[in-house]
Amino acid sequence: MDVILVGTGYVGLTTGVALAWLGHRVTCLDVQRSKIEQLRDGVLPMHEPHLAELMGACDGRLAFDVMGDRLPHRADVVFLTVGTPPNEDGTPDLGQVEAAARRVGASLREGHTVVATKSTVPIGSGSWVASIIREEALRHGATGAFSVASNPEFLREGTAVADTLYPDRIVIGADDTRALETLAALYRPLVEQRFDAPAFCPRPAHMGRVPLVATDPISAELVKYAANAFLALKISFANEIAELSESIGADACEALRALGLDARIGPRFLQAGLGWGGSCFGKDTAALVSTAREYGVRLPTVEAARDVNYRQRDRVIERLLGELKVLKGRTIGLLGLAFKPDTDDLRDAPAIEIARRLIARGARVRVHDPVALERARREFPHETGSACAHAEGVALESDAVILATDWPEYRELDWEGMARAMRTRLVLDGRNFLDRRRLERAGFRYLGVGR
Ligand code: UDX
Repeated sequence: MDVILVGTGYVGLTTGVALAWLGHRVTCLDVQRSKIEQLRDGVLPMHEPHLAELMGACDGRLAFDVMGDRLPHRADVVFLTVGTPPNEDGTPDLGQVEAAARRVGASLREGHTVVATKSTVPIGSGSWVASIIREEALRHGATGAFSVASNPEFLREGTAVADTLYPDRIVIGADDTRALETLAALYRPLVEQRFDAPAFCPRPAHMGRVPLVATDPISAELVKYAANAFLALKISFANEIAELSESIGADACEALRALGLDARIGPRFLQAGLGWGGSCFGKDTAALVSTAREYGVRLPTVEAARDVNYRQRDRVIERLLGELKVLKGRTIGLLGLAFKPDTDDLRDAPAIEIARRLIARGARVRVHDPVALERARREFPHETGSACAHAEGVALESDAVILATDWPEYRELDWEGMARAMRTRLVLDGRNFLDRRRLERAGFRYLGVGR
């Protein structure tokens, strides 16, 4: 099939590359010329494992083009994968979605096009998108037929390729059967897992047929928000149990491990720590709560999950104060800036906010991240303090080291040398990730989350 994706962020680019790998002819569009030129040279605009390799293996089925006023050619499916960044008040900014829909409307030529929204848009946006396309098509005398569908995306940064090739489910929301049939045909190789698994991203051992959920557009839009809210809730629950564990003297890691062994609960997204960050959980839980309010419905569990999450960042400061009493004039090392490992994404990253609060209290920060350091220097120069080229550098003359991102290499640092370089041997393991015994042997006072 011929596919166009409008927008080359994490979702657009990964989906486009994966569809080309499955055998479709794909064109990825973006308004940023520099990004398109980079992509044509095989360079990714972000850090995402395996994506460049997969992109390089698509043998002429994948093209990149600058988005003009019209789409460059007809396509069976056009995906809207532009960004929906938060406005000041937390609602998503739909400007890019609207602009993309207008261009699609102006371009409808012959035949039938399915316009599928993958951008995370407020619940009920499907008919709004359709009205814009219709209006623009009329204005330009574009006579091709179209249907609008919702096709939410569940990929995670850092594992985007595997999440796209081996998904837990595919959700399609549409009111007409033609759209459902077209998208079902597009995804058939994925659903049946009838494609060669790339060597660098093998198919999971027990991977079977992927469930395809065909439903109405509003239910499909709801699934995306509800899934993210539930995962966010699970993490906040773990953090609440961790806080209680600290007071009663339990080990939250042990308790949560046993909890997750209950098949009804499951172990994933049950790790206590600094809480979630990133571009989705914060934005999507806020949007869900606000949509519900518009209908006079309250979602107290989701609101509580948000409160608990953002309290994790306060608790870091409170615990440091408890140990060091005064933060003014102290030096604090931060290991990891990205909101999680295997990405250089700093949106809503706990580390950045913790750095900001430490600096506001008169502390100095020394920071390191294996991939996000340069980006942090550009986007958050104030919070980046002294940027260290080597992770061990954060310990120099420091009064505490906080592990904010669980990059695997941080477990293997020269912790003994770091202990010698520090003024106070205190480590706050914000992801319960370090080798506690080794650190204690090196003379550290070790604080985890919930232990
Ligand atoms: C999330 C959803 O998982 C994905 O389905 C959706 O499409 C986009 O949003 P992402 O934001 O890439 O993906 O990251 P994710 O792996 O979900 O982690 C989010 C945050 O939660 C990270 O900061 C991570 O460190 C934190 N986390 C995750 C925990 O604190 N504890 C856990 O147990 C799991």
